[in-house]
Amino acid sequence: MSLLAAAAAVRLNAYVPYSGFRVGVALRSVEGREFCGCNVENAAYPEGTCAEAGAIAAMIAAGDTRIAEVAVIADSLRPVPPCGGCRQKLAEFADGDVIVTLATMGGAALCITVAELLPGTFGADHMNQA
Ligand code: THU
Repeated sequence: MSLLAAAAAVRLNAYVPYSGFRVGVALRSVEGREFCGCNVENAAYPEGTCAEAGAIAAMIAAGDTRIAEVAVIADSLRPVPPCGGCRQKLAEFADGDVIVTLATMGGAALCITVAELLPGTFGADHMNQA
């Protein structure tokens, strides 16, 4: 199954009673395994989690370490870009040249890199004083 097909499949499991907006994410780790996530909302709205966060958590929980490629899909007219927090989360585990494919259910797709999504990324190196 392609990464995009996996993202579309997991999107169906999204728990979205509040927004009704289902998002699916699939990523491939540099170790070669695939992980999926969907958004999981909560009655306490800020406690909801994005699909990207779920996929990243699954990768880390399984013991893989870095992201090689990402696919995001949602039912929108234009490809939905990851929110600001998810851009930061992706940048923690992906090099700047990693491709993120943003797709719609209608077949539109936009390929963008992690560096393009989050220019001027704050990273661990900013905390090194040397
Ligand atoms: N959402 C994601 O899962 N990923 C994104 O990158 C954008 C937004 C979810 C969060 C919320 O459940 C719904 O979409 C509407 O914001």
